[in-house]
Amino acid sequence: MGELTGKTALITGGARGFGRAVALLLAREGADIALADLGANPTPRPGYQPATMGDLARTSEEVRALGRRCIAIEANVTRSADCERMAKEAIGALGHVDILVANAGAATLNSAWKITEEEWDFVHDVNLKGVFLTTKYVIPHMIERRAGKIVITASRNGLRAERNYAHYNAAKAGAIQFAKSLALELGEYEINVNAVCPTQMSDKSGPRAHTVQLGKYWDQVVGHENATYEEFDLASGRDNLFERGGQPDFKEVAEGVLWLVSDRARLVTGLALPMDAGWIAKRGG
Ligand SMILES: NC(=O)c1ccc[n+]([C@@H]2O[C@H](COP(=O)([O-])OP(=O)(O)OC[C@H]3O[C@@H](n4cnc5c(N)ncnc54)[C@H](O)[C@@H]3O)[C@@H](O)[C@H]2O)c1
Repeated sequence: MGELTGKTALITGGARGFGRAVALLLAREGADIALADLGANPTPRPGYQPATMGDLARTSEEVRALGRRCIAIEANVTRSADCERMAKEAIGALGHVDILVANAGAATLNSAWKITEEEWDFVHDVNLKGVFLTTKYVIPHMIERRAGKIVITASRNGLRAERNYAHYNAAKAGAIQFAKSLALELGEYEINVNAVCPTQMSDKSGPRAHTVQLGKYWDQVVGHENATYEEFDLASGRDNLFERGGQPDFKEVAEGVLWLVSDRARLVTGLALPMDAGWIAKRGG
């Protein structure tokens, strides 16, 4: 028996990266999964490569291979109609939703004063408005059942600012405040709402993420131009308090989500949990 046997989870941005790691970990613990991602028709944006239909199908298969049910839902979390349909499809297919992980996110890198309005909106739409819309249509179902666990994937950057991420820092700080606001209003219905705040992480075993201007971020962390991935990985690890040889794996960070949605964290709500190998502590807590 896993810790989540009989439970169901809806995870956005679940096709790859951290969402995929969370889906596989919760499935290993017994949960049936609804995986949502942009799917076949993402809104095109220069330089941004979202997950593909192939990623969504592959991760769904990986969940099923663990013996769990899994449905794939194509939804853009920045659109209200998509989020309403996503909630209906997940509840319809799985019978109910016990766990919601609002994880879809994206970032660009730019000096605060050079961020374009389009860039600001892109980052806020997915990281903040998307979280609001993702939760909006699942919460009434959880209230009705007087049960539920909601985890919002924020970031270490929601707690401490990092250069060239002003819009992302602001959006993730907003997501943390939104989680705390939900926790306040949903406590009386026995619904736990928390945020998880990962440090820079990577996937040692799965497909590597494709974020905008990734190379420039590598240069920033390493401290010189044309940094290689290997240099970036090492420098990122050293940025944490636990200076291990590279970034934490998505899988290690996903353990924080598992804890928050398990009964072991029944008393925990309104928390922004750093899963950061001490990155925040290293900067004064
Ligand atoms: N990678 C890191 O180091 C890191 C650190 C801290 C926080 N985070 C956060 O973790 C979450 C996952 O990041 P990741 O590293 O796995 O990135 P990723 O780009 O690999 O995965 C994000 C997923 O979200 C999907 N997505 C993007 N926009 C969407 C939309 N509008 N609707 C539905 N799905 C959408 C993408 O297709 C992709 O599958 C994000 O919220 C990110 O901000 C990541």
